[in-house]
Amino acid sequence: MGGLLDPTRLQRRWQLVLLTSIMSIIVFLFFSFGRPPPSGEVTDPLPISQLGVSLHNQGISGTPIKPKDLKVIGLVFFGRKDRVRILNCYLERNLASNGGWLDEVHWVRNTDTKEDVDYLHELIENHSAYKLVEIKEHGFVGYGLAWSTLEEGAIYLKVDDDVVFMADDAIARIVSTKVAHPEYLVVSANMINSPLMGWVHYHMGATHPYLPELIDPEDVSPGLAPDREKLKHPDTAKRTPWRYTQYPHWTGPDDYFFSFEQEPPSMRHRWLRLSTNIDNQVQQLKRTPISDAEYSTWGNSVQSWAIAAQQHYSFLENLYEDQLDLYQFSPKAKAWISDYQRLSINFIAINATEILSHLPMDTVDEEWLTVSLPKKMGKSVAVDSHALAVHFSFGGQGDVRTTDLLGRYLDYALENACMAPGPRDTRGSYYV
Ligand SMILES: *[C@@H]1O[C@H](CO)[C@@H](O)[C@H](O)[C@H]1NC(C)=O
Ligand SMILES: *[C@@H]1O[C@H](CO)[C@@H](O)[C@H](O)[C@H]1NC(C)=O
Repeated sequence: MGGLLDPTRLQRRWQLVLLTSIMSIIVFLFFSFGRPPPSGEVTDPLPISQLGVSLHNQGISGTPIKPKDLKVIGLVFFGRKDRVRILNCYLERNLASNGGWLDEVHWVRNTDTKEDVDYLHELIENHSAYKLVEIKEHGFVGYGLAWSTLEEGAIYLKVDDDVVFMADDAIARIVSTKVAHPEYLVVSANMINSPLMGWVHYHMGATHPYLPELIDPEDVSPGLAPDREKLKHPDTAKRTPWRYTQYPHWTGPDDYFFSFEQEPPSMRHRWLRLSTNIDNQVQQLKRTPISDAEYSTWGNSVQSWAIAAQQHYSFLENLYEDQLDLYQFSPKAKAWISDYQRLSINFIAINATEILSHLPMDTVDEEWLTVSLPKKMGKSVAVDSHALAVHFSFGGQGDVRTTDLLGRYLDYALENACMAPGPRDTRGSYYV
């Protein structure tokens, strides 16, 4: 007969609908909040939809807006695929097509290793904003020639191929500081692992007590004993969880210390956080290499792999704890002026016109850009403390490769930087 339901059946149907809804909400809440990621396990990159805001990568408020007519070009001296794999994630994120400040990236090939060169060619094919700069002469001469390929009128961001982290606002900050301050010939980012700034960071309280994990020499298998030959051919970084909270605290004798001159304990090792309290925090730092760091271009901060390692582990802690402001001066403070002590140029902004009109360089580019030319022109070299970036290692710090740090930076990049939306354009475009 007719389609009408009797009142009691209708009531039961509503009860069923209500019950199902409540159950779904409970199940949803359980899966959203009930399961923290298991520690010690590498999580896959987050889906794009969850990457809109990166909690660990916020600069101070008020990121500058890019002037309409300004052309910004990245300049990378390319050598090593395992580093550029990380750097490239940050560069892509900062391309103008993704809402960033980089209109183009020019790659200067600085290696003949086939695997690396193939990777570079693939990178350039994949990005319309990337260009190859071929210099016939490599080494010292090649570096000098590369500077003559600059395009008049553009602001250049010169980046080393082993910059393994940059804050989302780092490029915007150094470029806008350069444009706003013609009295600075070079504006550098505030680099983690920099011979001058490392000393500043330590004395500002941004570097924490870390020591290499104590390993019984009998537990070091022969394959992992420190081996100079092997270090020349490092294998690709193995992805390792970047959060310091996923590792235990350091344990060992109370009188143990590690000097900035010591050798790595094994081919693969990690540094662990010393536990501190109000009574021992000063003493704990004194046991670690950073306490001897010098403010000097050629001092131990550029030579010691241990000082580098401690700064990296401390940085990853600060990144996790959302306290990158430990490295920054107050918003109103001026830049840190380094003239005329030679400053490393791992991440700097320069005006092409100023460089081109003074070529050729009569010495190595770093000396010329941060000492000779600024002196000659009566200008300063400045570090913008609000623009943060990380430089992996200098030539003399090669032993940093015996740590698991590159794998940690890779993990952070895969989780937070690669294929993520650009700094301001949350729609992005290259991942759709
Ligand atoms: C270039 O793009 C292809 C296709 O998307 C991808 O498989 C490859 O990994 C990319 N290569 C590099 C070096 O980014
Ligand atoms: C670069 O330097 C030239 C020469 O001093 C100057 O005219 C120009 O305005 C500068 N460009 C920018 C973007 O600051």
